[in-house]
Amino acid sequence: MKSPIKVAVTGSAGQIGYALLPRIASGAMFGPDQPVTLQLIEAPIEKAMRALEGVAMELQDCAFPLLSSIVLTDDPKVGFRDANWCLLIGAKPRGPGMERADLLKDNGKIFTGQGVMIDEVAAEDVRVAVVGNPANTNCMIAASKAKRLAPDRFTAMVRLDQNRAQSQLAHRAGVATTDVKNIFIYGNHSPSMFPAFAQATIGGKPLSEIIKDEAWLRGEFCETVGKRGAAIIAARGASSAASAASSLVDHVHDLVTPGAIHSVAVKSGGAYGFNPEVWAGLPVRTTIPGSYEVLTGYEMDEFAQSKLAATNEELTGERAMVAELLG
Ligand code: NAD
Ligand code: LMR
Repeated sequence: MKSPIKVAVTGSAGQIGYALLPRIASGAMFGPDQPVTLQLIEAPIEKAMRALEGVAMELQDCAFPLLSSIVLTDDPKVGFRDANWCLLIGAKPRGPGMERADLLKDNGKIFTGQGVMIDEVAAEDVRVAVVGNPANTNCMIAASKAKRLAPDRFTAMVRLDQNRAQSQLAHRAGVATTDVKNIFIYGNHSPSMFPAFAQATIGGKPLSEIIKDEAWLRGEFCETVGKRGAAIIAARGASSAASAASSLVDHVHDLVTPGAIHSVAVKSGGAYGFNPEVWAGLPVRTTIPGSYEVLTGYEMDEFAQSKLAATNEELTGERAMVAELLG
């Protein structure tokens, strides 16, 4: 039996946490032979910590063979200590009529302290995945606080957007989701994101041979994917949780699976013309567990280039808005 890895999760008593923790403990994230210790971090609020106790009781009651132990804490120093993965979910979700960037003022501050603490106490090989919105910019804030850890350890989740795009294309083509490949999300986790449909394949053929309606691809498809989060909030009265948790399982699972090709928001380094300092959704290939290379060879036509420019402008604007939180 392998020794357990330590997985720190913030916002553990929230909606996403509730849907996520059983998936981690069951082996869906790190594999069926990898035990885990869950280090569950909540806000220092009595109600949240009490709710967290209930979540822990339920996890215990599942009798998961891979769940080695559970730590409950409102102290990030305890929660992040020696963690191999830090999943940063704890943050305020948006309500109806808000954009994710409206959360910057409230949520940005959370990620300064967490970036400092992870850098100080987490394991040598720690990897960080940010979900709390606005995810790209929060990730950039946390990474900017790290002195020991390189920026490539910090990723933000655009996998939910990739999964949404994959599912929409499969539905339109009347095929299984697994038939749709190479659909990547570029840019911000916001309506400006670009699901680069021209690169996708369906059943091994170029997408353009199967879905010939370019107007639908450029219009309704991009809009549906970009505004899916708002549509769910309007319908449910709360932001996506089960699909967000499932996509985080995919995000981390593929980052620990060499050869996996998937969309991750990473420090752009200037790829595809993005501002080198922002965290942008990009296609990556996992090299060794936890590490990845950005795939830079995809061609972008004029339409794609205009979409990349727009989402880059938004990310650059968000960076300017949080300038005082960086570094
Ligand atoms: P929620 O309100 O149900 O849960 C958030 C939890 O975080 C609460 O229990 C709260 O007490 C806790 N929390 C707040 N500040 C904290 C801190 N400093 N440390 C530890 N815990 C803290 O919200 P949710 O639905 O679980 O969503 C969480 C975040 O994820 C939101 O910002 C939401 O917008 C975002 N989200 C992102 C994606 C994505 O694709 N990137 C998808 C869905 C939701
Ligand atoms: C989503 O995409 O569902 C989440 O980011 C929640 C939101 O605010 O849209």
